[in-house]
Amino acid sequence: MKRRELNPTVTELWIHAPLIAKKAKAGQFIIVRPKEDSERIPLTIAGYDREAGTVSIIFQVVGAGTMELNTLKEGEAVHDFVGPLGKATEIEGLKNVCVVGGGVGCAIALPVAQALHAQGTRVTGIVGFRNKDLVILEEEFRACCDDFIIMTDDGSYGEKGVVTAPLEAKINEGANFDEVIAIGPLIMMKFVVKTTKPHGVKTVVSMNPIMVDGTGMCGGCRLTVGGKTKFACVDGPDFDGFEVDFDEAMHRGTMYKPFEGHAREEECN
Ligand code: FES
Repeated sequence: MKRRELNPTVTELWIHAPLIAKKAKAGQFIIVRPKEDSERIPLTIAGYDREAGTVSIIFQVVGAGTMELNTLKEGEAVHDFVGPLGKATEIEGLKNVCVVGGGVGCAIALPVAQALHAQGTRVTGIVGFRNKDLVILEEEFRACCDDFIIMTDDGSYGEKGVVTAPLEAKINEGANFDEVIAIGPLIMMKFVVKTTKPHGVKTVVSMNPIMVDGTGMCGGCRLTVGGKTKFACVDGPDFDGFEVDFDEAMHRGTMYKPFEGHAREEECN
């Protein structure tokens, strides 16, 4: 296993997993357990090298599980690594796409942008971060985007503001996107949809709720999409953004926060 620190809280690991590397597609995820008694951590595949047989995951330390994953040193192995799970992002036939990434969600947006670029799609990349220190994968995005904009909340890098501002401007200028693919915090995806919906621009969002088994059995990752219950792990993680009940998803997301924080405190003691 190889590791690289992308910013003070975000780490990239390249794991040797030839069978997964052979089948992985952008948008799918894996479940990793750093040690035998660790919790299972679902992470979207951030990259793969079929020849080298390696798969990359990028994560932010947010709770006990990711903190433990972050203790692994170069050359060490994870206990288990299962995947690829979920459905791949559908990109076939798309000619002109805007990929919007927010924060660590950019790690998931990047392979989608790369796959689009590889099939000859025109890719506009718009990525947002809180500040300059948190910017990740800029070079990689520049390499696969025909047009690329970085936004920061505080204006310390790129342009100041939120990702929806340039998105709206591009749509108004007649960018004519076949589709917008948004990957990032729920609140960002909700506002991307608010921006695209009035213009009728199809928008796909990548939902990353709490997952437990990753196989559709536990119900931990359930969401309401188009008034129906869906499981992000088997029905997604990509969904039609116009249909997702973001408010419910955000409410469920906050319900778990105290548990995550608590687990982290225990870990630190
Ligand atoms: Fe258990 Fe999706 S993670 S149903």
